[in-house]
Amino acid sequence: MRPLVSLPRSLASCHSIEDLRRMAQGRLPRCIFDFYDGGAEDESSMANNRSAFERQRLSPRALIDVSKASPATELFGRPLGMPMAIGPTGALGFGWRDADLHLARTAAKHDIPFTLSSSGTASIEAVAKASSGRLWFQAYVLRNQEFFWQMIQRAERANFEALVITVDLPVGGKRERDLHNHFSVPFRLTPRNAIDFAMHPCWTLDLLRRGIPAFENLRGLEMTAKSSTEIASSVGRSYDPSFDWDRLAQVRDRWPRKLIVKGITRSDDAQRAVTIGCDAIVVSNHGGRQLDSAIGTLDALPEVVSAVNGRIPVMLDGGIRRGTDAAKAIALGASAVLLGRATLFGVVAAGAPGADRALNILRDEFLRTMQLCGARHPAELTSDLIR
Ligand code: FNR
Repeated sequence: MRPLVSLPRSLASCHSIEDLRRMAQGRLPRCIFDFYDGGAEDESSMANNRSAFERQRLSPRALIDVSKASPATELFGRPLGMPMAIGPTGALGFGWRDADLHLARTAAKHDIPFTLSSSGTASIEAVAKASSGRLWFQAYVLRNQEFFWQMIQRAERANFEALVITVDLPVGGKRERDLHNHFSVPFRLTPRNAIDFAMHPCWTLDLLRRGIPAFENLRGLEMTAKSSTEIASSVGRSYDPSFDWDRLAQVRDRWPRKLIVKGITRSDDAQRAVTIGCDAIVVSNHGGRQLDSAIGTLDALPEVVSAVNGRIPVMLDGGIRRGTDAAKAIALGASAVLLGRATLFGVVAAGAPGADRALNILRDEFLRTMQLCGARHPAELTSDLIR
């Protein structure tokens, strides 16, 4: 049995990302919540991400006028409301109808980019229509190369600013919570899941009334799939484990805008990404969802930053739950952090207002951390603040 937790009932009582997480936990069937919350195997990569932040201490500068401090900065020569972007997370629509669109609009409101996952539940075109903000498209490398290139061309036509290629899952990870919960798409109705769904009638009724959201960007991927929902079960089998540096270089040649490589944790890989012309790197272990026992991303950041040596921006994700986490990453050389579960929990807890709440919490905490550390601008978050 899961230990009893006190669940916040309303958004107004959510003051941290953890509060939003618990609100989402109360709303969703366990199998859906665990799909979002869980990681691979012993979930030690997830724990390593968190412990890397917890191990670092801030050593603040005193007596600095921070009355006009601002978290605003820039990335790729364009302004950012704060050094954050919403990273790609697939299957959001299972948690809240149209969650991808809500996140895209909320990101624009906060003047930060939104990344649509290729396993998103809104189409590239629908997101471009819904948001006037900065949009990035994340592509998994698929065995079906023609389909992969078509997806990328759609993102180009829809004016996405950047293409994010995720390189940390040549094969999918082993997520044991999903196995225990019999979580699959299409949903398999086992006695355990039937009870789980029955205990969450609002969520279940919406699903019955409006149907299961589809992976809109993967429609047509498996010609043998009988329905849109059946596509999902074959997505994992569709990753291309033969994708390598030469193929990434081909993507570089064909994609004319910013190219971001996500899932790097080593200096030699970072060096190579710069050499083939990538425009940015995301230090990431996929939020601990693929390889278990992976190095925490904040621990990996300094060697990547040092290898890149200022030639392109380095971003980081994995375990960002507080403004202090973002501040530590910036102080250790990241240009921005990507938000994964933090904004995910907000949107699946309460839709657009939940996403907004998540970003307000993080912005407030980040700015407060800056001021308490004597930094007036994110650039003044420097490594001497970290002990
Ligand atoms: C992800 N992530 C992810 N990454 C990616 O490149 N494409 C994707 O489709 C997804 N999908 C996805 C679904 C869910 C439910 C989660 C939680 C994560 C990984 C994501 O972009 C990011 O790397 C991690 O979420 C960062 O870790 P935190 O912040 O969630 O701890």
